[in-house]
Amino acid sequence: MSEAGAPLLEVVDLQVAYGHVQAVRGISFTVPDRAVVTLIGPNGAGKSSTLGAIAGLLRPRGGTVRLAGRDVTGLPAHTAVAAGLVLVPEGRAILARMTIEENLVLAAESRPQALPPAERPAAIEAQYARFPVLGERRRALAGTLSGGEQQMLAIARGLLARPRLLMLDEPSMGLAPQLVDRIFDLVAEIHREGTTILLVEQNARTALAVSDHGYVLERGQIALSGPCSTLASDPRVQAAYLGGDVE
Ligand SMILES: Nc1ncnc2c1ncn2[C@@H]1O[C@H](COP(=O)(O)OP(=O)(O)OP(=O)(O)O)[C@@H](O)[C@H]1O
Ligand SMILES: [Mg+2]
Repeated sequence: MSEAGAPLLEVVDLQVAYGHVQAVRGISFTVPDRAVVTLIGPNGAGKSSTLGAIAGLLRPRGGTVRLAGRDVTGLPAHTAVAAGLVLVPEGRAILARMTIEENLVLAAESRPQALPPAERPAAIEAQYARFPVLGERRRALAGTLSGGEQQMLAIARGLLARPRLLMLDEPSMGLAPQLVDRIFDLVAEIHREGTTILLVEQNARTALAVSDHGYVLERGQIALSGPCSTLASDPRVQAAYLGGDVE
């Protein structure tokens, strides 16, 4: 695991509500520069709501989000992307009726200051090299890809936005075990390349294995946190989140 740097992301007392439903009830956490931090927890714990609020898709009801010291609380989504807060949402946000290439070209335009026009073709080719299946099918409609391939396209799109913080919401959801391994290898690879990652997962064992620091979210609050090695050996985490997993 990498050494923890200065905090890139600081979330302080974040609250998110949908009408009367309090989804996130005042959580605080940090993501050090160049680290991988994971949020784990059961269905409905508030994981996606947390990412949505950081990415500007949801307006927080309270609290503060800072990126490299700058207050980015409640920015509209496109401004959050421009600041480098890039979310690959749950359920693979791809443009199904556009080709794979069109999906990547649009993604490469999402943060113009970070990826100037002259550098975009090479950046897209780099994603084709990382994901050969996308390169082979670049003229195919994205909707014709399998679930795993669509997840790879969604991650390639996220990377082309040149994230300062890449947020991945359940990237392994619904994938066959072999593809789950591929996705987590990819998370480790992207991390090695220097990208800071905030990973949301229900697959707690694997998420703790690829991350530096973890937070357990339960009913909108942080129930436990610590270095992933400590969390993975915590009896409470083992009982609630690791017990049913197969080694
Ligand atoms: N659009 C919405 N309208 C109303 N309530 C919502 C909405 N989205 C989420 N919620 C509620 O907010 C709470 C947190 O949901 P959230 O999707 O953030 O959880 P999660 O941890 O991502 O769960 P999952 O593991 O199922 O993805 C839940 O009680 C959920 O029912
Ligand atoms: Mg979710």
